[in-house]
Order: sequence, then structure tokens, then C-alpha cells
Amino acid sequence: MIRLLAAAGTVAGLAAAAALAAQPAPNRGAEVYRRVCFSCHALDPGRNTPAGPTLHGLAGRPIAGLRGFNYSPALRRFAAREGRWTRALLERFLADPDALVPGIEMSLPRLSAADRQAVAAWLSPR
Ligand code: HEC
Repeated sequence: MIRLLAAAGTVAGLAAAAALAAQPAPNRGAEVYRRVCFSCHALDPGRNTPAGPTLHGLAGRPIAGLRGFNYSPALRRFAAREGRWTRALLERFLADPDALVPGIEMSLPRLSAADRQAVAAWLSPR
């Protein structure tokens, strides 16, 4: 009986975890940004550094469109094809930047799907 109750508890716990995974906590995106992107990307308007362009107002922004950042030819070519950043495009990009934009000068550690979704959503407020 105790075993059964423990099993039921585990199932409930798993269901709760699955629900949480399906709906990332609102601050998970911020946490991923701080952990992964912050070292190269600021969030303030106009704050581009040699390490990376600011991510301020990213959703809807023209790709490789900031003055004051020296984008690679690879990202400029991608911009000519795709136009603007959307949340969906950002999610695809973060899954494998090199595959989507061959020759891009950005190296990214592997992110889990949940982390990608969370940070893409966080950078694309509605
Ligand atoms: C090691 C440094 C580094 C890290 C870490 C990094 N980036 Fe980048 N990122 C860059 C650089 C450099 C570029 C410009 C690449 C180019 O011109 O080829 C860039 C470009 C971008 C662009 C295109 C910006 C534009 O103006 O079109 C987006 C979007 C982006 N990064 C998102 C992210 C996100 C989100 C993360 C974290 C999950 C991240 N990056 C992590 C260095 C980094």
C-alpha cells in the first residue's frame, strides 16, 4: 500500500513537472539570458559591443539591422533572405545557429528545447 501511494505520488509529481515544462516559468527566459547570452549581448538600446549586438527590442527588428555593429557577411546574407526576427525564427536559430546561418560569428552552447523556447519568448514580449 505504501508502495502504491509512493507510486501515485511519483505520477502526480511527473504530471506537475510536465505541466511546468509545457509552460516555462516567466523568469526562466531571463535566467537563460543571464546564464548564456549576457556575456556577449547587452539589452539596453544602442549598447553594441565587439562581443555582440544588443538584443533590445529583438522581436520584429530587422536581422543584422543595427547601425554600429559590424555584422558578418553570413548574417547579412541571411537578413536579405529572412527580413526580420520573429519568435519562431529565433527559436529555430537558437537550436543551431551554424546550421541556419552558415558562417555566423556566434558560438552558442547547446540549449535544451525548453531553454530555447523560454529565452525566445522572453526576448519577444507581446
Ligand atoms: C560568445 C558570444 C555570444 C553568445 C554567448 C551569444 N551570442 Fe548572439 N551573437 C553574437 C555575435 C558576435 C553576433 C553577430 C554574429 C554575426 O554577425 O555573424 C550575434 C548575433 C545574434 C543575433 C542576431 C542579432 C541581429 O541584430 O540580427 C541574435 C538574435 C542573437 N545573437 C541571439 C543570442 C541569444 C538569444 C543568445 C543566448 C541564448 C546569444 N545570442 C548568445 C555573440 C554571441
